[in-house]
Amino acid sequence: MDPSIREFKDFDIGEIYALVSDVYTTSDGMSEALEEKFPDLESFRQYIAALSSRPGSIALVAESGGRLYGYLTIMPRYQAKLSHTSELNMGVKHGARGKGIGRLLLGDALLRARSSGVLEIIYLMVRADNASAIRLYENMGFDRIAVLKNDTKTQNGYYDGWLMRKFVND
Ligand SMILES: CC(C)(COP(=O)(O)OP(=O)(O)OC[C@H]1O[C@@H](n2cnc3c(N)ncnc32)[C@H](O)[C@@H]1OP(=O)(O)O)[C@@H](O)C(=O)NCCC(=O)NCCS
Repeated sequence: MDPSIREFKDFDIGEIYALVSDVYTTSDGMSEALEEKFPDLESFRQYIAALSSRPGSIALVAESGGRLYGYLTIMPRYQAKLSHTSELNMGVKHGARGKGIGRLLLGDALLRARSSGVLEIIYLMVRADNASAIRLYENMGFDRIAVLKNDTKTQNGYYDGWLMRKFVND
């Protein structure tokens, strides 16, 4: 597989929602359930509309042979004094993980963020046991800036979280 990275707008929103649904329903590491984050296609459509309206926003998919394997969004915060900062969300389809797709998506997104000249800081939250995600983010220059003790509570117990940050131009 040799995926290319494209913008959301090149694809049908339903295809992207199916990909996002796959990621949320197959990943322990996501702090929200699919039905909390995007209960249906309409809620996802509204999120994409809000995302697109923010200057500097980024919304990418990894595509190969007409199929989608990964997505990444960077949502600038809406408050005027915080709009140079943003939050990252990403995921790769179950079965396609560990093949470099996450790295391709994030590398492309960081290039776009730098050239946009709008975004200065990207934040993300990751569960402390999500080794592949933390390794990816650190490889791409994100720093761990705070540990959130017992941030996630599941039937199996508590998990710490990491707040991570990257200065786009560093
Ligand atoms: C986290 C995620 C986006 C990473 O994407 P990916 O395509 O699987 O990652 P890549 O193949 O690009 O690999 C990234 C790094 O993690 C490493 N890695 C992969 N699987 C790993 C594992 N099980 N344990 C430790 N490191 C691992 C890779 O070796 C690579 O490091 P390297 O560049 O030093 O070799 C993807 O695994 C995913 O969607 N997971 C479920 C959803 C999720 O957790 N999203 C993030 C929430 S914050």
